Parts: sequence; C-alpha cells; structure tokens
Amino acid sequence: MEFGAFSVSLSAIDEERFGHKAARASMVSKDVIPELMDFCAKNDVKFLIARCQSSEIKAAQEMERAGFLLMDTLIYYSRDLHRTPIPEDDGSVTIRPLHPGEEGRIKELAQRMFHKYVGHYHMDERLDGDKCDEAYASWAAISCVNRGPDSEVIAALSEGSILGFAALRMNSPQEGEGVLVGVSPEAQKKGISKSLMIGGLDWCLSKGADQMLISTQMINTAAQKVWTRLGFEPARAMYTFHKWFD
Ligand SMILES: CC(C)(COP(=O)(O)OP(=O)(O)OC[C@H]1O[C@@H](n2cnc3c(N)ncnc32)[C@H](O)[C@@H]1OP(=O)(O)O)[C@@H](O)C(=O)NCCC(=O)NCCS
Repeated sequence: MEFGAFSVSLSAIDEERFGHKAARASMVSKDVIPELMDFCAKNDVKFLIARCQSSEIKAAQEMERAGFLLMDTLIYYSRDLHRTPIPEDDGSVTIRPLHPGEEGRIKELAQRMFHKYVGHYHMDERLDGDKCDEAYASWAAISCVNRGPDSEVIAALSEGSILGFAALRMNSPQEGEGVLVGVSPEAQKKGISKSLMIGGLDWCLSKGADQMLISTQMINTAAQKVWTRLGFEPARAMYTFHKWFD
C-alpha cells in the first residue's frame, strides 16, 4: 500500500530489470516536486516512477509541465468484511493455499496473464515488453517465497490444474490486501476470479481484518466488475507517471 507521506528512493529492482538508474516516488504533492527533481539530479537517476493521488491535480499538472508522462491510473477498492456477509462461493473450482512445489506454475501463469498488460511498465514505450511481463512474473514469484503468517498465495484448481491465483497480505491488523490476482488466459470469462476473490475475503477475515483492499488500472473493467459485484467500493485513485532524464 502506498497511502502515507511522500517518499522517494532508488529502485534497484527496476534498475536491474530495465538497465537504467531508477527511482520510485510515492504520494507526490506539488510542494515536493523540487525536492524530487533534486534527488534525481543528485543520484543521476535516468528513469523515475512517480505516483500521486488523483486528487492532487496541481501535482499532476506540475509533473506534466516538467515532462512527466502519465502511464496509468490505479483505482483502489475496499470491502468492509463485517457490514454485509461474504458471498457464498458457487463456482466450480477449488480454492486452497498454494502447496510447496507449485511456485513455478504461479510464476509461469503470471508471465502469461500479464503479457501486454495495461500497467505502467507496459505503457512506457521505452521499456522492453518482455521485461515488463517479467516484472509481474517476478512479483508473483516473490509473493510465493514470502508466504508467512501475514501473507498467503491461494490457488484456483480444476481437475488438479492451477488456473489462477491471488497473492494476499496483511497491511495492518485491520486491513488485508489482494496484491496480485489473475486467471490463466484460457480459463478467463468463467467466473474463476470471483471464487479467488471470495477466497481472499475469507482469508482476510480469518486474519482478523476489518477490510480488504485491492487495486487495478482504471481501464481494467473485467476486474472491477468482479469486485463491485462482491461488495467492494471505490476508495481512492492514484496516477502513475514516468519521467526520463535524458
Ligand atoms: C481480471 C480477471 C482476473 C477476471 O477474471 P475472470 O475469472 O475472467 O472474470 P469473470 O469470468 O468473472 O468475468 C468478469 C467479467 O469481466 C468480463 N471479462 C473477463 N475477462 C475479460 C477480458 N479479457 N476482456 C473483457 N472482459 C472480460 C467477463 O465477461 C465478465 O463480465 P460479464 O459478467 O458482464 O460478462 C482476468 O481477466 C485476468 O486474470 N486478467 C489479467 C490479470 C488482471 O487483470 N488481474 C487483475 C488486476 S491485479
């Protein structure tokens, strides 16, 4: 989750993947833009990923004036876990936590699910498409490795085959989050992500959370259809900008 105060730091993972000195900034407001530009100049940053709340129009306009390019708009939804019951899962897949040895399948699925995705990496024409796919695959792989008391990966199975997954984590004792959710391209449009989302809600509830958070790109209508039908409501939105310093 990125809700909080402004921060900027170098991003080793983006630098390693894309081959340019990279940094990430979150919660950018108009006032901090000089500080942000100063950080990038001092650290010889070539590629900056900067997020601001969509309500910070003045920050967005100031970034536009400075040559930042809009890459995506993230919309966050939250679901109160107590106000109304979590719907029963009437789907045909089995939802269960990932078993040891299944991590490779999750990575491979993520690579295909997010191929040519509409996120900020893929929307930047300067970034290699295969490397953008890899970003999601490695994110999914890291989620598998990091499983513990406060994070889990659940899988959707049919006839023994994993067709989709949801990576989940607790952000605080009150809030769980769906970090990455997807269904194999050949198994989409069959309601499988509904079952995964119900599994996610159940997991958050079992951890004592009061709400579950999830986000996606504003133009990802398929995901939002599933979530709103399960009682998720819009919470906030973020713009993602990229700035190239050359
Ligand atoms: C978004 C996603 C999880 C939806 O999963 P799903 O199991 O296919 O969803 P459903 O079968 O319940 O479909 C939900 C609705 O979206 C529509 N839909 C599903 N996939 C679609 C697609 N690729 N294009 C357009 N609409 C789509 C369905 O037709 C359905 O609408 P309808 O009931 O009005 O007909 C899946 O498409 C996916 O994995 N996409 C890639 C990864 C992703 O976007 N993850 C979410 C953000 S992290």
